[in-house]
Amino acid sequence: MISGCTSYLWVAGVCVVAYYLFKIAKYFARLCNESLWSKTFDFQKYGNWAVVTGGSDGIGKALTMEFAQSGMNVFILARTKQKLENMEKEIKSMYKVSVKTLAVDFSKEDIYQAIQDEVSELDIAVLVNNVGMTHPEPIALLDVPNVEKYSNDVIHVNTFALMKLTAMILPQMTSRKGGIVVNVSSVIGSTISPFFALYGATKSCMNTFTEAMRQEYSDSGVIFQCIAPAITATPAVASRTKSNFMIPSSALFGKYAIKAIGKSAYTNTSFLWHNVFQLMLYVLPNVVFFNAMRKGVEDALINTKKE
Ligand SMILES: NC(=O)c1ccc[n+]([C@@H]2O[C@H](COP(=O)([O-])OP(=O)(O)OC[C@H]3O[C@@H](n4cnc5c(N)ncnc54)[C@H](OP(=O)(O)O)[C@@H]3O)[C@@H](O)[C@H]2O)c1
Repeated sequence: MISGCTSYLWVAGVCVVAYYLFKIAKYFARLCNESLWSKTFDFQKYGNWAVVTGGSDGIGKALTMEFAQSGMNVFILARTKQKLENMEKEIKSMYKVSVKTLAVDFSKEDIYQAIQDEVSELDIAVLVNNVGMTHPEPIALLDVPNVEKYSNDVIHVNTFALMKLTAMILPQMTSRKGGIVVNVSSVIGSTISPFFALYGATKSCMNTFTEAMRQEYSDSGVIFQCIAPAITATPAVASRTKSNFMIPSSALFGKYAIKAIGKSAYTNTSFLWHNVFQLMLYVLPNVVFFNAMRKGVEDALINTKKE
């Protein structure tokens, strides 16, 4: 009886170990497949255009430059016309590709007809839902200045735009039986993020939306992917974060991200420290992260008083 029980336990143990070994092997296979030395996905087999929201600065700009370098035409959407014009000039001076820009504010709902008019003419291979906003420092929801407007804007910029653009561009991808929808999420979308409560919730929404779409359209030829960076030195975080060996510049992150696009369902790219951070969120008890955030709130308060 006891020896029967032991052998069941032994088999169960072997299965569990095999399962985790398989997961670890898959994880390292993804890292290799997305490494800086790997081949970039052949985007042009799906079309000639990449559409990037929030593509005039930070991670969006870095990705747009990478697409242009790979020979893709780019359509960039952001608010500031001058920045868009500068970027168009910069890209055209460096690469022989077409560039389209549109100045729109994703916190508004009345912008989508203007976008539809532009995209209906383009054969879009890649849609990057990159635009996102949050408050810069960790802070409790009710302490956010003008919290009602902030909440409205975050929901529109981080989630409404994602749904609207996906629904707008997906039909042309499914009819061509190919395309990639890349949603730029955040590592904190995979956990609970006190003091970035609403931002974290919108990023979790992005993660589950992406996976659900991936399942719903699994036979369509369209690839749905979440790219989840950890902290990256972009203008959004420039006041408190400079790049160092653990924090990539947006240009460097773009180089990692372009290698990841189209190759996995959820990725932090192969940038080592973003993977380490993600792993810590999975492995360490939540309370460690919560306490770190609390410390962040205290530090931010001290810095504000100093200023
Ligand atoms: N940086 C990080 O540490 C980090 C970490 C994890 C995830 N992410 C995610 O990565 C994405 C990009 O972040 P980022 O740090 O690169 O941002 P960023 O440096 O602030 O760049 C934002 C871009 O979006 C545009 N934009 C901002 N608000 C907009 C609006 N309401 N309507 C239209 N365009 C708007 C900006 O141009 P205009 O100002 O001219 O509109 C700019 O082109 C976001 O989804 C963010 O959540 C970032």
